[in-house]
Amino acid sequence: MAAPSEFETLPQCGEDQIGFAVDAPLDRTLVRSVPYVVHMTQLSQSVQLEFDGDIAIIRVDNPPVNALSHHVRQGLLDGMKQAEESDAAAIVLICDGRTFIAGADITEFSGPPQPPSLQEAQDAMENCSKHVVAAVHGTALGGGLEVALCAHYRVGVASSQYGLPEVKLGLLPGAGGTQRLPRITGASKALEMMTSGDPISADEALACGLIDEIIEDLEQGAIDFARRAVSEKMPLLRIRDRNEKLADTPTSLFEDFRAGIARKTRGFLAPEYNVRCVEAAVGLDFEAGLEREQELFRDLMKGTQSKAQQYYFFAERAALKIPGLPKETKSLDVHRCGVLGAGTMGGGIAMNFANAGIPVTIVERDAESLERGLGIVRSNYERTAARGGISSDDVESRMGLISGSTDMGDFAECDLIIEAVFENMELKKSIFEQLDQICAEGAVLASNTSALDINEIASATSRPDAVIGMHFFSPANVMKMLEVVRGDETSDTAIATAMAIGRRIGKTPVLCGVCHGFVGNRMLFMRGIEAEKMILEGAAPSRVDRVLFDFGLPMGPFAMSDLAGLDIGWDETTSSSSTVRELLCESGRRGQKNGRGYYTYDPDTRASTPDPEVEEIIKRFADQQGITRREISDQEILERCLYPMVNEGAKILSEGIAIRGSDVDVVWINGYGWPMYTGGPMFWADTVGLKEVAERINHYASTIGGEHWSISPLIEQLVSDGGSLSTYTN
Ligand code: 3HC
Ligand code: NAI
Repeated sequence: MAAPSEFETLPQCGEDQIGFAVDAPLDRTLVRSVPYVVHMTQLSQSVQLEFDGDIAIIRVDNPPVNALSHHVRQGLLDGMKQAEESDAAAIVLICDGRTFIAGADITEFSGPPQPPSLQEAQDAMENCSKHVVAAVHGTALGGGLEVALCAHYRVGVASSQYGLPEVKLGLLPGAGGTQRLPRITGASKALEMMTSGDPISADEALACGLIDEIIEDLEQGAIDFARRAVSEKMPLLRIRDRNEKLADTPTSLFEDFRAGIARKTRGFLAPEYNVRCVEAAVGLDFEAGLEREQELFRDLMKGTQSKAQQYYFFAERAALKIPGLPKETKSLDVHRCGVLGAGTMGGGIAMNFANAGIPVTIVERDAESLERGLGIVRSNYERTAARGGISSDDVESRMGLISGSTDMGDFAECDLIIEAVFENMELKKSIFEQLDQICAEGAVLASNTSALDINEIASATSRPDAVIGMHFFSPANVMKMLEVVRGDETSDTAIATAMAIGRRIGKTPVLCGVCHGFVGNRMLFMRGIEAEKMILEGAAPSRVDRVLFDFGLPMGPFAMSDLAGLDIGWDETTSSSSTVRELLCESGRRGQKNGRGYYTYDPDTRASTPDPEVEEIIKRFADQQGITRREISDQEILERCLYPMVNEGAKILSEGIAIRGSDVDVVWINGYGWPMYTGGPMFWADTVGLKEVAERINHYASTIGGEHWSISPLIEQLVSDGGSLSTYTN
């Protein structure tokens, strides 16, 4: 096909060609509205071929993120063939919409492969006899970046980003990315990018050779670059042929790198597989490296980890969708946030808002508590600055956004007020009564309670529709989870506001209903019951913790209690020696804060060791209770910790407290560090098999008993219908 002249007219266009007329040079801002005189061939539903004079433009438009669906692959392949056969001197690959190609179409992973393969399109690009330039805006991710790596040159606008996030989906960049990226950036940078999955900026990409130029105007800049490549006879660079950056890779790199990421990637398969691919890039020739990549990719793809991680990708996004909340619901624009209480949670909550540039008014009950709370916030920021996370200017500007007060009247200017005082219903009700008097009409009044009834708190106000739970997790400035708790009368606006502000401050909000402990803590309480029983029956706390750690959780229930403080909610005057925790508190053990809890802590390293004194306290208590101690297997520990949680999760679902099974998983992954590679408690139970889960729950119901072992009718129903918890939706 010949490249059309710039002034061909509409009647000359074929059926698949739409003609428009504008003056050259082509201005993309005009393209959508004013006809111009270049051919446009629709190659597939999402890809078209156009010509700007001597430059062929392959344009992808596959909203929302230009994923590489089969019609995109087909269009790319056909576009390359037709552009190569045309009179065009060079070819530009560009995308419409908000981003360059953001990767493979993940929704296609569960079905059979559809032709053409991405590799066919990539080969056509890489082996093209004309210069191919990829023009990047938004994010070139995964398969998208792997396509760009097959172009001879890459240019991008200043805001563009580049990454291989496959590791986050439990995969590796299986379209040649593992072999091409190290060849262009060097092995060290490639290891970093592939095992973290985090994108790098255009500046970084330019510095490491991943892109060739930062351009101002996406389309014109790319066209100019392509013309320059032709006129200056730049070589047709194929990354596969370039080995210069790999030549001096130190042999120690891989072992050092593995050691460096071991803690963060514990239990995940994909990071190690990505490292193996980079090793192959360094040690094998390109074709052999590709084969190794494919072999490892297939291995990951058929395992449960990648299925779980892909499930989580969609679960996190599904959680943002609230059935019944009209799309047009407006959320309040939060210009200033109020936080009541500058304790453990209030300080961290305030930091989230300051980090996002939102001014915060933090109110305490007295000047001393205020000073202490603000002091902790400042020292948190200073610690982050000392580690290089933020600059010292950032410390000051963020502190500058937080104003302290001891007068709740200062909340009058706030659009959203989050209460984080002690966990006491009477106190919270009296606070909300006051907030009702003080706060502006339309303001959203939120409580950070971890378990109390939002409806009862709301009843203390004359505007229960404005009251909502916003349950942050500790440490509130770090943990991503935010349970948004809707009361019976909570308005759509309050829900939309809490969800939107949650996103704005970088959290993962999940909406749930009112019950004791909401989704996360309610399930946690069930685990706590069995964990306490098991230490009395003979399992050491360190053994229970170890089993859960080995399962993939960051810590077990006893290490967690020590971290939070054993005396949370404990009152010396009413303590009745009726639980192990009370006994420990009564003997002066407060957890990590005083170096003695279920474990004893080294004052310098904070390393924990089991303490014989604790074992003694437990044994004595078990004796008093007439409990016979016995050997408990790891399998029993795991089942008795996790199955009551699954059972409770199912009850939470059937009561409509959580909207979907996947929401429960999002809460547990983000709130408690449940290992993402198992998908969360609901997905995990599905992979174990609900029939097996039901049998074990029924077994413990008949041998141990207790309300938490009475099986959820939903599990029974799903077993008989062949359904699953993770896909269950109310
Ligand atoms: N495939 C299918 N759908 C995708 C998708 C993909 N790769 N990426 C995003 N989507 C969907 C989302 O599910 C969402 O759908 P919804 O509106 O129905 O919920 C929609 O696109 C918009 O996505 P986001 O809400 O995430 O939009 P953002 O603007 O916040 O983020 C993004 C955009 C940074 C591109 C983000 O979507 C993202 O990180 N996407 C995944 C990128 C990725 O993992 N790519 C690698 C894929 S695997 C691969 O390429 C294998 C290869 O090596 C062979
Ligand atoms: P905290 O004891 O560390 O802080 C509470 C703060 O509230 C104290 O600084 C206290 O001086 C202040 N305060 C008490 N009454 C006040 C009043 N009338 N006016 C102003 N300030 C007042 O408690 P923490 O841990 O921060 O908990 C706060 C809330 O957050 C509780 O409801 C708790 O259940 C919830 N929560 C706690 C989590 C945790 O891990 N600590 C996790 C999630 C929620």
